Amino acid sequence: MEAILLVGGQGTRLRPLTISTPKPLLPTAGVAFLAHQLARAHAAGVTRIVFATSYRAEMFEAAFGDHAHGVDLTYVTEDEPLGTGGAIRNASRALVSSPDDPVLILNGDILSGHDVQAQVDLHEKTNAAVTLHLTEVDDPSRFGCVPTDTNGRVTAFLEKTPHPVTNQINAGCYVFRRSAIETIPEDEVVSVERETFPSLIASGAPVMGHVESAYWLDVGTPEAFIQGSRDLVLGTLTSPAMPGPPGDRLTLPGATVAPGAVVRGGTTVGRNAVIESGATVTGSILLDEAHVAEGATVRDSVLSRAARVGPGAVLDGVVLGDGAVVGPGNELRPGLRVWPGIELPPTAIRFSTDA
Ligand code: GTP
Repeated sequence: MEAILLVGGQGTRLRPLTISTPKPLLPTAGVAFLAHQLARAHAAGVTRIVFATSYRAEMFEAAFGDHAHGVDLTYVTEDEPLGTGGAIRNASRALVSSPDDPVLILNGDILSGHDVQAQVDLHEKTNAAVTLHLTEVDDPSRFGCVPTDTNGRVTAFLEKTPHPVTNQINAGCYVFRRSAIETIPEDEVVSVERETFPSLIASGAPVMGHVESAYWLDVGTPEAFIQGSRDLVLGTLTSPAMPGPPGDRLTLPGATVAPGAVVRGGTTVGRNAVIESGATVTGSILLDEAHVAEGATVRDSVLSRAARVGPGAVLDGVVLGDGAVVGPGNELRPGLRVWPGIELPPTAIRFSTDA
């Protein structure tokens, strides 16, 4: 089976992490986020993937080449970002499948443990134009919702509303009959969620919902990105691409964790990163060469490449860009983001998002 992987978005909600690296390539539990998706796609029977690239397109081929995690890879780049639907249509130029073959479409920022083969089986059995993975959430008012009838056929694609009619939401993994991709207009900016699916349903085309509430996470925000990495390290979601066995922490080659430091809760310690004695680091991501000094506390945070946290500083739910420096004595509260290269001097002042 072939797949198209949508990886052209700018990842604005994850800035400053995505200034230098596109979201799908951010290190997640020690490897590029996409490595987990490629390995899982391979396990589900995908043999060839077309990457639909736009933002920082050249970085994807440099990272994965023409074969990785058991899958052949090819790259199609948009001159201008075409949105999710336009990108699918554009990338379909590189498919070799026949008109009736199923083509899997994956969003490049979703971690999912659902049964892709069962989704494809439903698609084939019902001869659908498109079969969507739908997941159930506790609070559907934060998303658009997707009701289905008793046969599992999608009846509507509804925008976000305070009173959703179902807790089923679009989980961002689709099986398209190849010929259904051809219904998307060519060389136009198109949203698959706002335009393609509603118009397919309105035209009476069979659109099915595969409802499965396995592990599912959209890693679009810093909080979710950190959670995804943590869940992979702890083994809450298994991935064939993990560089080590599940455990309380993942320490990459060359990292130094002092004997007196506490590092746990699914933390990843990147290559040549250093955690000094008396420091506590929980549920966090330290990229390569990050440094946490003596007595500092880092919770649920991301320290990008070569970022430094000074002695006794406290970070809770914070994102530090590449090379950012937090001087001793600072206390940074949830939601705060420090841009690459910025240095916060030693201080007794407390920086807070709710100040
Ligand atoms: P935000 O800017 O933070 O919303 O993130 P994003 O740019 O990734 O957007 P969103 O989360 O809505 O995108 C869903 C998926 O589609 C991601 O995998 C994106 O990489 C991808 N995507 C979004 N827009 C485009 C586009 O214009 N072209 C391509 N090729 N992919 C896109």
